[in-house]
Formats: sequence, C-alpha cells, structure tokens
Amino acid sequence: MKAVSAALIRLTLIALPLATPVKAETNDAAKLRVDAAALFMPIATPVAPQDSVSVQRLELGRRLFFENRVSMDGNISCAFCHLPDKQASDGLPKSIGVFGKENPRNAPSVFNAALNFKQHWRGDRESLEEQAEKALLGPASFGNPDAATAMGKLKAIPAYAAAFKNAFPDEAEPINSKNWGRAIAAYERTLLTPSKFDAFLSGDTAALTSKEQAGLRQFIDLGCVGCHNGAGVGGGSFQKFGVQSDYWKETGVAVPDKGRADVTKNDADLYVFKVAGLRNAAQTAPYFHDGSVADLNKAVRIMAKTQLGETLSDADVAALVAFLGALTGKVPANYAAPDPYPDAQERK
Ligand code: HEC
Ligand code: HEC
Repeated sequence: MKAVSAALIRLTLIALPLATPVKAETNDAAKLRVDAAALFMPIATPVAPQDSVSVQRLELGRRLFFENRVSMDGNISCAFCHLPDKQASDGLPKSIGVFGKENPRNAPSVFNAALNFKQHWRGDRESLEEQAEKALLGPASFGNPDAATAMGKLKAIPAYAAAFKNAFPDEAEPINSKNWGRAIAAYERTLLTPSKFDAFLSGDTAALTSKEQAGLRQFIDLGCVGCHNGAGVGGGSFQKFGVQSDYWKETGVAVPDKGRADVTKNDADLYVFKVAGLRNAAQTAPYFHDGSVADLNKAVRIMAKTQLGETLSDADVAALVAFLGALTGKVPANYAAPDPYPDAQERK
C-alpha cells in the first residue's frame, strides 16, 4: 500500500511539469486529430474541369437539375425537393412531388451524395446516374409514363439540341435519358461542401471549438464512428436501424418501414437502411428515412439508444450536436438556377 502511494506520488511529480493546462489542451487536440484522421477523410471543393466537353456537360447538368418542364405537371425539378436554401433537402418529413403526390420517404441532401456507396435510404439506386434517370419516371417525383415522354418535353425546348450536342459530341441522338443521368451526375459530383471539420482533419486543430472537439471525442468513443465514418461521415454501409431496440418505439411511428428487406425480399435486411451521411445534418431536419424526428438533439438520443444501447446526458447530447454543427459547409456557388431556356415560339 505504502509502496503504491510512493510510486503514485513519484509519478505525479514526474507528470507535473507536463500537465500545464495549455499544453494538455494542445496535446488533446493533436491526439484527437490523429484519431479522427484514421476514421474520416477530409473533402475539398472539386477543381473545375478545363476541357470544353466537361465544362458543357456540367453546365447542362446544372440546367437540367433546375428544369421543371420535364415533369408531367410542369412544376417539378430536382431542385423542387432539393432546395438551395434548405441545404439541398426540403424540410418536409416526406417529399411532395408531381400533382401533389407524397413520397414514401424523406429527401436527403444531394450535397456530398457523390460520396455515398449507393443512393437512397434503402440503397435501391446503384449510382447517381441511375438515381437521376429513374426520377424521371417516379410516380411521386416527375411522373412521366416512360423516358421517351420525358425526353420529348426536352426536345420541345429548342436550345437543348445544341446543349446536349456540345456535352455529348460523339452521339448522333444525344437527347436521351442516359445522358440526362450522366450530365446531372457530373454536376452532382461538384456539390461537395467542405466544413470546419475538414480544416481540423487537415491539420488546423484550432478550427474546432473545445465543445465541438468534445463532441468529436464522444462521437469516436461512444462508437458512432462504427457506422458513421469515411469522407461522408456515413453513407458507406448498410446497417440495421434498431440494433439494440426497435426504432419505431423511439421515433413513435405507427407503421415501420421495413427498409432494405422490401428491396431484397431477404429477412436479414429487415429494418436495414443505408447509414446516413451526417455532413450538413444540422441543416437538414427533419431526421431519419421517414422524417419522423424534427429535432437533432432527439435524433442523437435515439441513435445512441437504438444503435448503441446508451442513454446520453444532456451535456453529451449538446457536445455531439455541436460537433455535427461543425459538419455544415457552404452552399456551393453553382447550386443556383441558370436563366431558363425559352419555350419554343408558337408558329404564326
Ligand atoms: C418530389 C421530390 C423529389 C424530386 C423531384 C427529386 N428528389 Fe431526390 N430525393 C427525394 C427523396 C424523397 C429521396 C429519398 C428516396 C428514398 O430513399 O426512397 C431522394 C433521394 C435523392 C438522392 C439520394 C441521396 C442519398 O443520400 O441517398 C439523390 C442523389 C437525389 N435524390 C437527387 C435527385 C435528382 C438528381 C433529382 C432530379 C432528377 C431529384 N433528386 C428529384 C425527393 C425528390
Ligand atoms: C450501428 C450503426 C450506427 C451507429 C452506431 C450510429 N448510427 Fe446514426 N444512423 C445509422 C443509420 C442506419 C441511420 C439511418 C436511419 C434511418 O433509416 O433513418 C442513421 C442516422 C443518423 C442520423 C439521422 C441523419 C438524417 O439525416 O436523418 C443522425 C443524426 C445520426 N445517425 C447520428 C448518430 C450518432 C450521434 C451516433 C452515436 C451516438 C450514431 N448515429 C450511431 C447507423 C448508425
């Protein structure tokens, strides 16, 4: 007993000169950065392409993203549900599409969607290209009966002939739904939103406040990073929503979405969803695939309980939410509608 105390005292004495507050804080931040760099990857604004075909393809993609005349009621564009002033989501529990039809799920942000390993909550779209092409036919998105009908609407707008030709110069009939998907996907790949967290990961440990750092430490130590990791802080795997307890008992929904099981018809996929990417999460309420939770504090508590079996203190929740706030990036400058091409003139 005595020996232990003596050893402890000796240790304390040796440790003392190092334990000045400033130094400790710097060391903690440096260690946190090293730990975080092993789990996440910083992102940066993509470098704009220089060659004319890529430039024109991107510009076409942007134009198509904001084009509402391709929908059956003439009102719906991609941006109708992915709004610039809502960090590219729509603020609704479930999106409303063509002729006022409700979608079965909540609209995630398209910012950083390029980092996802699959698209949609249930991963039923393999790529950004496939996602954009299928939206043309979605009964609660654009509502076209077939791709030809959708493309007919674009062909009726004269300026698209040259725009598609310039973006896909090797093709005889470039206005087709495949190229619609390719142009929009190329544009979406530019929609990355670097944040303070990326500056921190890249070595600027002062980029995060001490509260945000405390939240990041919790995010790592609690085990959120087991699922939310990589460049997207999620978006890289499928996981059950409700590992420790049924999610709908926490979110309060009456009829739970079965998740990926409805896509694969495999019971092992019951209540399995793509792990949400958490970049910009502070700006994209309401939360979860069904938009059932309006408040980020509550969403964080539910995650800790259903995924990790943890009940968080108010201080833990506040720190985690502060960290999530540090994942908010700027709306990209090119996320804005160009002046629309004029309609065809009526024949005299
Ligand atoms: C009527 C509203 C609506 C319109 C119009 C719409 N979306 Fe979405 N978007 C959604 C909803 C809802 C989801 C989630 C669907 C799901 O997971 O079942 C989604 C999901 C996505 C995703 C996947 C994001 C992720 O994290 O998984 C991308 C990318 C996307 N949309 C891009 C587009 C593009 C491009 C267009 C235009 C071609 C478009 N959206 C049109 C509502 C809409
Ligand atoms: C076992 C995997 C797993 C763990 C651990 C986990 N999550 Fe999640 N998280 C998910 C999945 C899957 C979703 C999507 C759920 C759904 O279907 O809505 C999600 C969604 C979220 C959302 C909602 C995002 C949105 O845009 O709707 C937040 C916020 C979140 N997680 C934060 C956390 C935090 C904080 C922790 C740690 C306390 C955590 N998660 C731990 C798998 C996990």
